[in-house]
Order: sequence, then structure tokens, then C-alpha cells
Amino acid sequence: MTPKDLMRGSRAVSATLPDWRRERCGRFWDPGRRLLRAVRSYQRCKTRNFPFKSLRKYWVLEHRFWSIVAGADIPLDSDLGGGLQLPHPNGVVIFPGAVIGPNCLISQQVTIGVGGPKPGAPVIGGHVDIGAGAKILGGVKIGDHARIGANAVVLEDVPGGATAAGVPARIVRSRNPILSQDKNAETESDAYGSSVMHDTTDQPPC
Ligand SMILES: CC(C)(COP(=O)(O)OP(=O)(O)OC[C@H]1O[C@@H](n2cnc3c(N)ncnc32)[C@H](O)[C@@H]1OP(=O)(O)O)[C@@H](O)C(=O)NCCC(=O)NCCS
Repeated sequence: MTPKDLMRGSRAVSATLPDWRRERCGRFWDPGRRLLRAVRSYQRCKTRNFPFKSLRKYWVLEHRFWSIVAGADIPLDSDLGGGLQLPHPNGVVIFPGAVIGPNCLISQQVTIGVGGPKPGAPVIGGHVDIGAGAKILGGVKIGDHARIGANAVVLEDVPGGATAAGVPARIVRSRNPILSQDKNAETESDAYGSSVMHDTTDQPPC
């Protein structure tokens, strides 16, 4: 099955309820999930005002280690919805002001940052699959269940359910059938081999 088939086969993943199983660390050598775990744990320590400062420092060190391993730049204070998948985190850059919704998938070499014609940073909806090498620049809004093609340069808003590809990105498909299935979101998810959608608690996994 090709990655295109996998993206096309992505069905009924919620755009609103995070599936934390997608982030669960199953083995030690899993840079994408380990990096996310460091971000989640750091943020948890910060929001709960944890008394042990050293614990927060530990997660800062973990974050640095996995950032170096992955060659990724995902700041500790990033606004990342739950259920994010980074199957190959190398070269992923996320600007601190960007917002990413639940259950998104970010492939390798993706940049989500400032610098496009629209001022500000991108706001990405829920269950958005972003192909390898894509750049999403400036204050653009990407709707729920949208797909961004490999190497696309997105400078304009992308409506929900649409597929955008090319440089600059244009809409190549305007609607994805999964949009109408969001209410059945507890059934399945196969985008890039992501996990099945059942666990929708609001707690990070580890
Ligand atoms: C964008 C994408 C999701 C489109 O999938 P799709 O819905 O099956 O669309 P199609 O393949 O039918 O393509 C529709 C049109 O968009 C064009 N297109 C598709 N992907 C494109 C891309 N990345 N860049 C430019 N044009 C693209 C096709 O040539 C086609 O054009 P046409 O209508 O003029 O023939 C898919 O091509 C893609 O880029 N997936 C990313 C996969 C990836 O990054 N995997 C990483 C794995 S490690």
C-alpha cells in the first residue's frame, strides 16, 4: 500500500477528540513520540505548578536530547492538539505561535511557520494530514480533515476536507468523504498506519 493509499484511506478520525493512543510510546527508540512525551510532560509540570523544579528541568533535557536525535524544532510551549503523529520527525519545524488541532499527522521536513503573505502563524484544524516536505507559511487557516500534499507550499486558507498540493498550493480535491463521518469517529484510523480511534480521554499517555 502506498502512502497515497494510506492518506486516501484515512477515515473517521475525529477532528475534535484527541486519540492519545497515537502518541503512546511503545518502545524506547521512537524519537517522534519521545519528543512529544517530553513536550507534554513539561507542559503538565508547568500548568500544574509542580513543586519539583528539577522534574521540569529533566523534561527540558529530554526534549533537547530527542530534538537533536530527530533534528526537529518543536518548542516546549507549542500549542499541539492531542493525538499528534510524527512518524519521521526529522526536519520538522513548528513556529511557537502556530496552533495545531487534535489527531494531526506531520511528515518529515514539514515547516509550519511565519513568513507568508498573511501575517501571523498558521492555525491548523483537527485531523489534518501534512505530507512530506510541505511548508505552511503565515496566518493561514487549515480546516478540519484537510490534506496537504508532499512538498506543497501553502500560502492561502485551505477549507475543511480539501486537499491542497503544489507550489503555491492549490485545491486539488475539494471534499473528502470523511467529513460526514466525524460523528462516528470511534471506529478507525489508518492514515499512515495510525492507531485505531477509541481512547478519547483528555490525558496524555505518558
Ligand atoms: C496530495 C495527496 C494526498 C493527493 O492524494 P489524492 O487525493 O489521491 O489525489 P490524486 O493523486 O488523485 O491527485 C490529484 C491531483 O493532484 C496532483 N497532486 C497530487 N499530489 C501532489 C503533490 N504532492 N504536488 C503537486 N501535485 C500533486 C495530481 O497530479 C493530480 O493532478 P491532476 O488532477 O492534474 O492529474 C498525495 O498525492 C500526497 O502528496 N500525499 C503525501 C504523502 C506523503 O507525504 N507521504 C510521506 C510518507 S513517509
